[in-house]
Amino acid sequence: MEKEYKVKIFTGIRPTGDLTIANYLGAIKPIVDMAEERDINPLVFVADMHALTDSEPSVAKKFTHEVVADYLALGLDPERTTIFIQSAIAPQILTLMSYLSRHITVAELLRVPALKDKLKKNAREETANALLFLYPVLMAADILIQRPEYVPVGEDQESHLEVARLLAKRFNARYGDVFPPPKTYQMKSLRILSLKGKGKMSKSVPEGAIFLTDNIESAVQKIKKAVTSVEGKMTDGLLSNIIIAKELSKNENDKMRIDEIIAEHMSGKKVMGEFKKALANSVSGFLTDFQARREKIIRNPETIKSILKRGAEIAAKNADETMALVEKAMFSR
Ligand code: TRP
Repeated sequence: MEKEYKVKIFTGIRPTGDLTIANYLGAIKPIVDMAEERDINPLVFVADMHALTDSEPSVAKKFTHEVVADYLALGLDPERTTIFIQSAIAPQILTLMSYLSRHITVAELLRVPALKDKLKKNAREETANALLFLYPVLMAADILIQRPEYVPVGEDQESHLEVARLLAKRFNARYGDVFPPPKTYQMKSLRILSLKGKGKMSKSVPEGAIFLTDNIESAVQKIKKAVTSVEGKMTDGLLSNIIIAKELSKNENDKMRIDEIIAEHMSGKKVMGEFKKALANSVSGFLTDFQARREKIIRNPETIKSILKRGAEIAAKNADETMALVEKAMFSR
């Protein structure tokens, strides 16, 4: 019973607004694809308590609802995925967080790379709130409490997972085996670049990013203004645009057409205009479908509520079971 994995795949998503197609292709689609393989049923939660490190509660709440609608509209199938909101099991997670906090030192936490980066970029020790400091322990608690085997995350989250494994090991060594070590499921990182040619596509450079909420016309305008490549040459920017065009296209014919255009381009023909048309076609088809699906979903808040309620029940059952083991290990000796 103890130290057994309870969940095959578990991951958390941050309720931030304004998702781009790079977020979709890099982080969301892999989970959607995973869920399509039978019998896995990933457990996915929205990290609304983590969002409180840098968002006002009302903002975190608004984005939590938005991000659920986004994920459902992007194809996360509630029949094959379990979705819940982190705060639905806040008492269990926070209790475990405080128990785990005993087993990591202040100095160790200050060395967590993700925290160090944040302290360099957005905040300083004098102004950063203490929830930011505890972020890795909070994350370890929400992972360990579900006892998952694999946690799919981007590279930037690896150091957080190491903290989770370290805490699992220390807890087990101190009180007896409770937590099986969660393994990283490394997502292949797609290099989706800014349409402006420099750096990653990100919401901080909106002219170079396609947002899921962009209207079709403005998305097409951004593509028209995108940088291209001279005939016969492959660049990182072109490669990224080819990935976008192919991944978002709906059928094999369109994908083949894109390959043909690129073959012509490599043989020295002037076909970047054609390519942009194909790219615009893929992107606008994708956005049109997504936006229609999302509209339908948000008109049905009861459905979302019941999906989240079912998810919370499953998450709470796992969490209660784990906490019973934790309390037994810690206090009944
Ligand atoms: N820190 C993660 C991010 O910024 C979100 C997250 C919170 C998470 N808890 C998690 C991811 C647990 C995986 C598992 O993206």
